[in-house]
Amino acid sequence: MQEQLTQVELPHSPACERNKSFIAEILSLYIEDGGRLLEMGHGTGQHAMFFSSVFPHVQWHAADLVDYHWMLKQRLKLNPRDNVSGPITLEVGAEPMIEQLKKAQQAQAFDYLFTANTLHIMNQKQVDVFCLEVAECLKSQGHLILYGPFKFQDEFTSESNKEFHQSLVSRGVGSGIKEFERLEEQLKDQKIDFVKRFNLPANNQILIFQKR
Ligand SMILES: C[S@@+](CC[C@H](N)C(=O)[O-])C[C@H]1O[C@@H](n2cnc3c(N)ncnc32)[C@H](O)[C@@H]1O
Repeated sequence: MQEQLTQVELPHSPACERNKSFIAEILSLYIEDGGRLLEMGHGTGQHAMFFSSVFPHVQWHAADLVDYHWMLKQRLKLNPRDNVSGPITLEVGAEPMIEQLKKAQQAQAFDYLFTANTLHIMNQKQVDVFCLEVAECLKSQGHLILYGPFKFQDEFTSESNKEFHQSLVSRGVGSGIKEFERLEEQLKDQKIDFVKRFNLPANNQILIFQKR
């Protein structure tokens, strides 16, 4: 078992600290005063801790691969939150998302699915599976909110994103910045329509989708 680390010792993503307020501003346009949100790929847990305090009436269900759970658990131990549940084990591609949620007693559809900086880490096959399966996890009218870098019409939004993509590709595990149009088309086939794009600092975007 991992020994309890202090707030300062816990793994910390500086990017999360920089982007959290900008993301919260956009989330507040779509997240109403309540409901159930699934965060896929909570990573260090910093976003879950921050957004659950900004949206105290939203039940924030944080999910990730098992290896990441300890960070959220330790953050919650240091700063307990009534409205954070999890960590839930969720690995797209391992078995159907809905089956993994059922195992975690979370089969009830969510009002929101939020995920930050995950799709460019996942390989294309996993992203295709995500697009196929995510509708089952969302309520009708539920929102899918994607944050991260994306390609539009085959173009990167900056030279630095192009370099980032090349560094991801060089890892050889299929990571890389994903194409908006492919996501849009695949999600549309599952009755999830594109709503709006927001450009955020550091050449990241928020893409809002809504299930019919
Ligand atoms: C760069 S981290 C982002 C973490 C956090 N959301 C953030 O913005 O700092 C990528 C995350 O994607 C998750 N991830 C990678 N492959 C995944 C998959 N197949 N299914 C679900 N999550 C995955 C990782 O476990 C990790 O938490």
